Amino acid sequence: MTHPLQVAQTNIPHGFIDLGAGEPQLDLLPLDMLREAALQRFNANDREFLQYGVEQGDGYFRAALAEFLSPRYGLKVSHEDLFVTTGNSSALDLICTLYTRPGDTVLVEEPTYFLALRIFADHDLRVVPIRTDEAGLDMDELVHALGESSPKFMYIIPSFQNPSGHTLSPERRRQLIALAQQHGFLIVADEVYQFLGYTETPPPSFGTQIESGQVISLGSFSKILAPGLRLGWMHTHASIVQKAVACGLLDSAGGLNPFTSAIVRSLIERGDLEKNIVNLRSELGNRMRVMDEAIKTHLPQARYVPPRGGYFFWLQIPGIDAQELQQKAKEFQVGLRPGVRFSSRNELKDFMRLSISHYGAADIEEGVRRLRRCIES
Ligand SMILES: Cc1ncc(COP(=O)(O)O)c(C=O)c1O
Repeated sequence: MTHPLQVAQTNIPHGFIDLGAGEPQLDLLPLDMLREAALQRFNANDREFLQYGVEQGDGYFRAALAEFLSPRYGLKVSHEDLFVTTGNSSALDLICTLYTRPGDTVLVEEPTYFLALRIFADHDLRVVPIRTDEAGLDMDELVHALGESSPKFMYIIPSFQNPSGHTLSPERRRQLIALAQQHGFLIVADEVYQFLGYTETPPPSFGTQIESGQVISLGSFSKILAPGLRLGWMHTHASIVQKAVACGLLDSAGGLNPFTSAIVRSLIERGDLEKNIVNLRSELGNRMRVMDEAIKTHLPQARYVPPRGGYFFWLQIPGIDAQELQQKAKEFQVGLRPGVRFSSRNELKDFMRLSISHYGAADIEEGVRRLRRCIES
């Protein structure tokens, strides 16, 4: 239910444990770091960040971000290859505006991030799903799909995928890039969880592959700082940056989010982004172990691959309709996301997504216990 004066997007009733919720718990959002960074920016007595911004996005922010990314990507990231966005959702919307027309085809993973499907629907795109397994895309199905259609782009979440938690293997990444070059489609890699590996470091970001001119890597501060900042970046070939910079939206609005960019620039320069990511990895890694134990104890019939990073557990409970279970679970004060919502084929009905982002260890355990009671009742 929405409150007329509500601030946050979701409003979970007191006492309810919504293990389906994918947004971070308020306690995980670094209020103190942001206060310090904002103070530093305000105390500099320079009003430029209150002005319409340069179209590509605040240059000092892009330089700080490039310096942050370079050692982590193992290559020199240039601020010239970065374009500031208001997060991955709006970056996707912009890419659809720039590269597609109604009726065009885009490829997605099956399952995929269900809200990306909403954005593609807004642009009247035809979505073709490609099956995935533990190592990501099924390459045979992809090759088959490319024989039947000419997609404008393929949308993937290559590391710690939402909802499956799976990571695309290095071999399949290479094959995907080769296919993109051969068939002339863009790869749009949504890498929101790239820095959230707990027991595994994922393969290098698709940002290391931009030279081909066929790859757009999308990064966001939503999962590594705070979603309310509405800040992210596109890392891609100069020709794609130039196409984005020239769009009508930016001509009128100027670069995206200069105010927040300036504050986050200070936060990065102070070394606090790294600190925050280290804190998150430790806290979320712990929650992941707790959820894993709780599932093994209370839902031994669940089939799943324990995730190594990101936010999500993707469970299959054979014989269960997860949408019905979601309804019934309300009586038990617990929530989940049914798998069918992540399917563009209206399948995956016996799958569900559970998240570790919104609750601490005790609530995660209690939530899984409630789910067990609900299934057994
Ligand atoms: C795969 C994926 N992409 C995008 C988003 C939203 O990102 P942003 O807040 O940067 O728009 C999410 C958030 O859950 C996500 O899981």
